[in-house]
Amino acid sequence: MHNDRHLVNIALIGFMGTGKTSVGRVVAEHLHFEYLDTDELIQAQTGRSITDIFARDGEPAFRALEQKIVEELARRAKTVISTGGGLPVNPLNLASLKTHALVVSLWSSPEKIWERVRHQSHRPLLHDKDPQAKIRELLAARAPFYKQADVLLNTDLRSVREVAQQVVHQFRLETSSHR
Ligand code: S3P
Repeated sequence: MHNDRHLVNIALIGFMGTGKTSVGRVVAEHLHFEYLDTDELIQAQTGRSITDIFARDGEPAFRALEQKIVEELARRAKTVISTGGGLPVNPLNLASLKTHALVVSLWSSPEKIWERVRHQSHRPLLHDKDPQAKIRELLAARAPFYKQADVLLNTDLRSVREVAQQVVHQFRLETSSHR
């Protein structure tokens, strides 16, 4: 796995509402790493909200910004990177993250995802007349990409703390045995 990889970061990938942000923050705190979120970086660089970028420029423009941010992340070290749910669909993004980060995929059932996101409104892809169907459809289409991570963790029945502990454990395992 590690021939041409230098694992100095952790990247969390997975669908909206799988716990990337909450888990990422706990992992970063635990390892004394910096915490970054690709959506936040895009918003900081453009001075615009994700919803506004989707509404006025469209999804392809958002995906281009996302790819640019991912390229910049290769310069980072000791960072936990939480990524937007659609980011790994672009194979260049996943390939780039894998050069410097242990890629951990957080997985949840569509039901659990719906439970977590139903009272939030900042995700343009779920502004749909049937958001539950949209979750099922997108999740099925993206599953093959999420499965390309180094580590897969189901977050349905685990607390944020438990998932974070698993991530830290996997990172320590990988980085201690390959130096
Ligand atoms: C998206 C997920 C969002 C955000 C954007 C698109 C997606 O990030 O990047 O709304 O395509 O699944 P979160 O997964 O952090 O909600």
